[in-house]
Amino acid sequence: MAKMEVKTSLLDDMIGVGDMVLLEPLNEDSFINNLKKRFDHNEVYTYIGSVVISINPYRSLPIYTPEKVEEYRNRNFYELSPHIFALSDEAYRSLRDQDKDQCILITGESGAGKTEASKLVMSYVAAVCGKGAEVNQVKEQLLQSNPVLEAFGNAKTVRNDNSSRFGKYMDIEFDFKGDPLGGVISNYLLEKSRVVKQPRGERNFHIFYQILSGASEDFLCKLKLERDFSRYNYLGLDSAKVNGVDDAANFRTVRNAMQIVGFMDHETQSVFEVVAAVLKLGNIEFKPESRVNGLDESKIKDKNELKEICELTGIDQSVLERAFSFRTVEAKQEKVSTTLNVAQAYYARDALAKNLYSRLFSWLVTRINESIKAQTKVRKKVMGVLDIYGFEIFEDNSFEQFIINYCNEKLQQIFIELTLKEEQEEYIREGIEWTHIEYFNNAIICDLIENNQTGILAMLDEECLRPGTVTDDTFLEKLNQVCATHQHFESRMSKCSRFLNDTSLPHSCFRIQHYAGKVMYQVEGFVDKNNDLLYRDLSQAMWKASHSLIKALFPEGNPAKINLKRPPTAGSQFKASVATLMKNLQTKNPNYIRCIKPNDKKAAHIFNDALVCHQIRYLGLLENVRVRRAGYAFRQAYEPCLERYKMLCKQTWPHWRGPARAGVEVLFNELEIPEEEFSFGRSKIFIRNPRTLFKLEDLRKQRLEDLATLIEKIYRGWKCRTRFLLMKKSQIVIASWYRRYAQQKKYQKIKSSAIIVQSYIRGWKARKLLRELKHQKRCNEAATVIAAYWHGTQVRREYRKFFRANAGRKIYEFTLQRLMQKYFLEMKNKMPSLSPIDKNWPARPYLFLDSTHKELKRIFHLWRCKKYRGQFTDQQKLIYEEKLEASELFKDKKALYPASVGQPFQGAYLEISKNPKYKKLKDAVDEKIIIAEVVNKINRANGKATSRIFLLTKNNVLLADQKSGNIKSEVPLGDVTKVSMSSQNDGFFAVHLKEGSEAAGKGDFLLSSDHLIEMATKLYRTTLSQTKQKLNIEISDEFLVQFRQDKVCVKFIQGSQKNGNIPTCKRKNNRLLEVAVP
Ligand SMILES: Nc1ncnc2c1ncn2[C@@H]1O[C@H](COP(=O)(O)OP(=O)(O)O)[C@@H](O)[C@H]1O
Ligand SMILES: [Mg+2]
Repeated sequence: MAKMEVKTSLLDDMIGVGDMVLLEPLNEDSFINNLKKRFDHNEVYTYIGSVVISINPYRSLPIYTPEKVEEYRNRNFYELSPHIFALSDEAYRSLRDQDKDQCILITGESGAGKTEASKLVMSYVAAVCGKGAEVNQVKEQLLQSNPVLEAFGNAKTVRNDNSSRFGKYMDIEFDFKGDPLGGVISNYLLEKSRVVKQPRGERNFHIFYQILSGASEDFLCKLKLERDFSRYNYLGLDSAKVNGVDDAANFRTVRNAMQIVGFMDHETQSVFEVVAAVLKLGNIEFKPESRVNGLDESKIKDKNELKEICELTGIDQSVLERAFSFRTVEAKQEKVSTTLNVAQAYYARDALAKNLYSRLFSWLVTRINESIKAQTKVRKKVMGVLDIYGFEIFEDNSFEQFIINYCNEKLQQIFIELTLKEEQEEYIREGIEWTHIEYFNNAIICDLIENNQTGILAMLDEECLRPGTVTDDTFLEKLNQVCATHQHFESRMSKCSRFLNDTSLPHSCFRIQHYAGKVMYQVEGFVDKNNDLLYRDLSQAMWKASHSLIKALFPEGNPAKINLKRPPTAGSQFKASVATLMKNLQTKNPNYIRCIKPNDKKAAHIFNDALVCHQIRYLGLLENVRVRRAGYAFRQAYEPCLERYKMLCKQTWPHWRGPARAGVEVLFNELEIPEEEFSFGRSKIFIRNPRTLFKLEDLRKQRLEDLATLIEKIYRGWKCRTRFLLMKKSQIVIASWYRRYAQQKKYQKIKSSAIIVQSYIRGWKARKLLRELKHQKRCNEAATVIAAYWHGTQVRREYRKFFRANAGRKIYEFTLQRLMQKYFLEMKNKMPSLSPIDKNWPARPYLFLDSTHKELKRIFHLWRCKKYRGQFTDQQKLIYEEKLEASELFKDKKALYPASVGQPFQGAYLEISKNPKYKKLKDAVDEKIIIAEVVNKINRANGKATSRIFLLTKNNVLLADQKSGNIKSEVPLGDVTKVSMSSQNDGFFAVHLKEGSEAAGKGDFLLSSDHLIEMATKLYRTTLSQTKQKLNIEISDEFLVQFRQDKVCVKFIQGSQKNGNIPTCKRKNNRLLEVAVP
């Protein structure tokens, strides 16, 4: 959980305490332990309020990556663990956003990491400030000025392999947006004595070694140098090589950097020529030569080196040679030349070398400034980075150390002033009551050194300017007189006897109690170094050089500009420039980086408690903490404070509506923090005791755990709910899509069905139409065809005869006609007899004449019959008519009929007229007799037959007695209504009489005759012709007859053959008369 927490305060995951102000209890041990603990955990930075303590890790830590830059970018100072980037960011942002010029003051011993820190600050600012081609070039030039200056101004010392031997203050200039515009570098007092002499275990400036290792043979040759350190007197031999430093590679880096900064090729060349000349100067040696006046005069031992130097610099060899041998002193209008002895010659040589080099260095700074100068005239915001040499205490401390330590003293002074001032101002700003805190103020030491009348520097100047013999000893004497009473000044020779017996203090030394410790200075060389004399002959010789750079370095050599006034001494120059610097710094908002050296071995992981303790003491860090805590140990703006602790109180959690200050008040009341423990400033809460803060932190930690659980709970719930809602939403979406899809499908189905149905209907309609059209077309075609055929037929008919094709038909028809002809002719000869009953008929000759043949036979038969009939007489005609009538009436009805066909109807079977017996009868009948025949009359009562003569005349039917011929009954034909008979082969028949007629009195007649067919036929014909009525003839085997009043049924039955062919009649009862027929 803790790991996941985003840092919002340096209090998070803190090792020890990140801010010493919070240290509890506060004492030296706890202070060092805290630093050590943090150092062991790779936490090299610790705060005292806004001051950063930096402990040199002596190894590269992964805390300067671009990711780190991003992490610290735009974050509040106390938000993350202490880091130099936090300070840089704070400084840059207040510069950019609050328009306050800034200065970054980096202090500490030599090798404590000041230069590295300054570079880190610059690189951080470069990384976070504006981007763009132009800006990037400015940045690059600013950054690349470092390697150039380091090559010429840094050297390996016992303390530091890359010790800055000059003080550097760089102003980086920004525009209103915070984009860098350029910069100005000021350098302070290069340790030029190093050029000619280095302490044991130390080296000359890097550049000498770099040229010899890194330059090409060609280039070396041009510079008239050899690649051999031992060839040069100025290069200390014992530590020419430094571990882990690649001089050759660094040389390439320097040349590259020079190019980037903007050095022209010829300029670079000139610079290296000067460096070579300095190196070679060291090789010039002198030997004494006695002169006439008894004085020794120095002579150059080997002029070869001198010659090469002169070639290199374009100086007339004789001029230079002379300058090394003579010294011209001008006083007023006089010029006095004196010869130099060997020692003086060496002094002159070294002075020239030192001057050449230090002037070259100053020229380099000027030249770099020219390049990095801001191009615009708009108002600039400035961030100054001060990387000055650290406090130095060596075994032998000389003028340089004195100057350096003075500078550090001044810086401490400004630190004290500004820190306290700032602290006090804050309390006033915030309206908090403030009580003064005691602390050591080193103003008194500064005064010891810089006081215009009684200061050491003033005294030194006085000595230097004093006429008469001036030595370092006279200077010390003077010091002893003036400063003896000063509590920070110690000397054996002083009037005060305090140190008379102090054997640790040699007679030729004086000791100063610096804020950082006591330092013993060898007085030897103070005067010379302060004078910084270069014989005029030498500077004039240099000015005469044709080498333009060297000429420019020695403007005072120009005889036209001869200035008899002494140049200002080194001490006063330095004092002045330090004063300017301090003034400059005071106008800016200070940011402190206090570098601490953990060990003397330049080794990682070693933390020397004693060494650190010493530094802490003289840096006054504890006082710093105390001052900071005197009022209140911790302060924080209301907003971040409320933000950090608001979860500790219900009213302020989770949101406080209202001013942050009120929120914090509520919060502190709720937590029951004693009132004396805190104070409300205008914009900040001030917490007196760190314990209170830690209590708050503990509470916060506990509360955070609870909150984490709560948040986890809510988050889980939220997640589940979100997921659920999402799923629900998804489900709806899916469902709607599915529904849409289904509906679409359904719709498509319906649509396609509709289209199918539609298409079928359309198809059907179309086909119907097509059929109709086709039909119509066919009709048309048929009509056309018919017409064509008809026309064709007509035409063919018309033209047939003209065609041979028709010959066949003609032939056929002809042949047919011929055959018919032949047939008919043959038939003529084959005709059968004319008898109608002849059945013969010739055979058919051709099948196709079949019907014709039959028809012809029929026609012939009819014709033959007609012919036959034509032969008949009227008599015969009548007979046949009667026969025909009989056939119509009885054929197929009466079994007796076939037998009658062959019998001719004779009618008058009885020859009445001829038989006299019937004379009377003949008379009684005057009409023509049609039938005269004997019949049996059946007695109605018993069925017995009696013969009677039956007569039929034109109008009557008569029955007469056979014997007598007496008419027994006479019936007019009109009274005969019906004749009935059987269908059998018998001759019985009944004649029914009209009811009520005269004859009917006795009843119907029942008769039997052999000629029944003939009699019945003639009776029918006669009745028809007389009465115009058809006589009803009933043929039935059972019929009724009227006997007087009774109706008797006559029934024919099959009788036996005993009576032969004569049927027997029997009256069964009065209703039935049975006739048995054979
Ligand atoms: N922050 C750091 N990280 C790693 N090494 C450092 C750091 N600061 C200093 N050093 C090491 O210490 C050496 C001396 O530091 P430097 O800044 O030159 O000291 P100073 O300028 O105070 O004399 C550097 O050369 C480097 O090796
Ligand atoms: Mg340094």
